[in-house]
Amino acid sequence: MTDTNSYQTLAKYYDKIYELKDYKGESEILKQLIKQYKRSAGKELLDVACGTGTHLAFLKEAFTCTGSDLNADMIAVAKEKHPEINFEVADMSELELGKKFDVITCLFSSIAYIISKERLSKTIKGFAEHLKPGGVVLIEQWLDKDIFRAGEPHIATYKNDDLIITRVNTSEVKGEISIFDMHYLIAERGKTVNHFVEHHELAMHPTELLLSIMIENNLETAKFKNDPKFDRGLLIGVKK
Ligand SMILES: C[S@@+](CC[C@H](N)C(=O)[O-])C[C@H]1O[C@@H](n2cnc3c(N)ncnc32)[C@H](O)[C@@H]1O
Repeated sequence: MTDTNSYQTLAKYYDKIYELKDYKGESEILKQLIKQYKRSAGKELLDVACGTGTHLAFLKEAFTCTGSDLNADMIAVAKEKHPEINFEVADMSELELGKKFDVITCLFSSIAYIISKERLSKTIKGFAEHLKPGGVVLIEQWLDKDIFRAGEPHIATYKNDDLIITRVNTSEVKGEISIFDMHYLIAERGKTVNHFVEHHELAMHPTELLLSIMIENNLETAKFKNDPKFDRGLLIGVKK
């Protein structure tokens, strides 16, 4: 299995397909957790795998933000939305931003795009190295292998007067990897209908593995799962 970078064609439609995701509510919870756990004095925040930067729209009220993502098309959308924020195109397993932060977030299960345990260790080590002492990292997990329903059909849609998006998929599981071919049909006024398929592979890393790597990297850990917005689990690490 290889890691995939599957958001290229989707970038300009991403915010539409996730228009109902409660980024604002999630960001409020994140702010409360940061307040509860962070011991460093500063307000520098890095959102790793920030996508189109929608959490940053709410986090920037409270923090000086940076966003990074592997996909240049997602970063281009994020930059257009937030010209005042610094964005970097960067693979989270190779982070070298030359700067330390008070808060690092890695949300919406983006960590699961890191498939091998070796790269996962490297990624979390990189997060720890980019944190100031007392800084906090918040990592939103992907689904547990025990609850993932392989093969289940899913649909997501978006519609306005000029644009209709439909996404359908099933899935399969190989070992600890969940695999999806997302079929998009996009009908845009005045254009021929666009059909494309995006392939995603997400590792269902066990919580114990993630926590043990965090501990190895001098992060004191906790797990938040008390809100339906983060029912996949949000792992919190505070740099010693
Ligand atoms: C589900 S999206 C989440 C985006 C954003 N955090 C959000 O909540 O909307 C996953 C993101 O992870 C990014 N990604 C995947 N592999 C990555 C990697 N190795 N390094 C950095 N970003 C990566 C993708 O480009 C995509 O933007």
